[in-house]
Amino acid sequence: MQGAARNFFTLAIVYGILGMSLGLHMSITHDHGQMPVHAHAMVAGWLMSAVFGFFYHLYPSVGRSLLARVHFWLQSVSGIFLLVGLYFLLAGNEAIEPVVAVASLGFFAGMLMFAWIALPVVWGSVGQRDMVAARAS
Ligand code: HEM
Ligand code: HEM
Repeated sequence: MQGAARNFFTLAIVYGILGMSLGLHMSITHDHGQMPVHAHAMVAGWLMSAVFGFFYHLYPSVGRSLLARVHFWLQSVSGIFLLVGLYFLLAGNEAIEPVVAVASLGFFAGMLMFAWIALPVVWGSVGQRDMVAARAS
């Protein structure tokens, strides 16, 4: 793996470890107050980042592009602010709500950017040479 694929896959594993640690903490303490943080760390963090990672791994030339790198930084920075902000919001710090709101919009913008990058690849000829090269090797 390289480029955005490697970055997203590494990020996915970090989300997975932190999210499961929070899940265990919730189970052990019987305090499920941070359930939304755990749920989003697992699905919007671990699973989504892994899907992005596999997509860019399938299309390495797309994964090395500037657009893919911008997508990685937008999705990862907004996702981290979203989850850390939500953690403090659920812990009672209401002043942090605007940070969570802006981060949510950033995270959504990341998804729109992925649509912009991925749909021409799966519907058109962009990146097809990666598939041809993969089949030939
Ligand atoms: C060490 C492993 C894990 C532990 C100890 C754990 C623990 C928990 C706990 C205590 C809850 C709260 C349940 C409730 O209050 O109703 C929860 C919810 C949730 N967990 Fe985990 N979890 C683990 C792994 C995972 C994984 C691997 C995923 C997904 C890839 C996941 C996804 C979710 C989701 C989506 C919810 C929210 C479910 C709902 O909306 O009711 N969890 N988990
Ligand atoms: C713009 C980003 C997002 C925002 C603002 C958002 C917001 C929310 C809200 C307000 C809830 C209800 C929480 C509650 O009732 O306690 C929720 C639940 C949930 N969301 Fe999201 N979400 C976002 C992205 C995602 C993504 C990308 C996924 C999956 C890939 C996801 C999976 C879930 C799941 C599994 C639940 C149920 C677990 C829970 O109640 O915490 N969300 N989300």
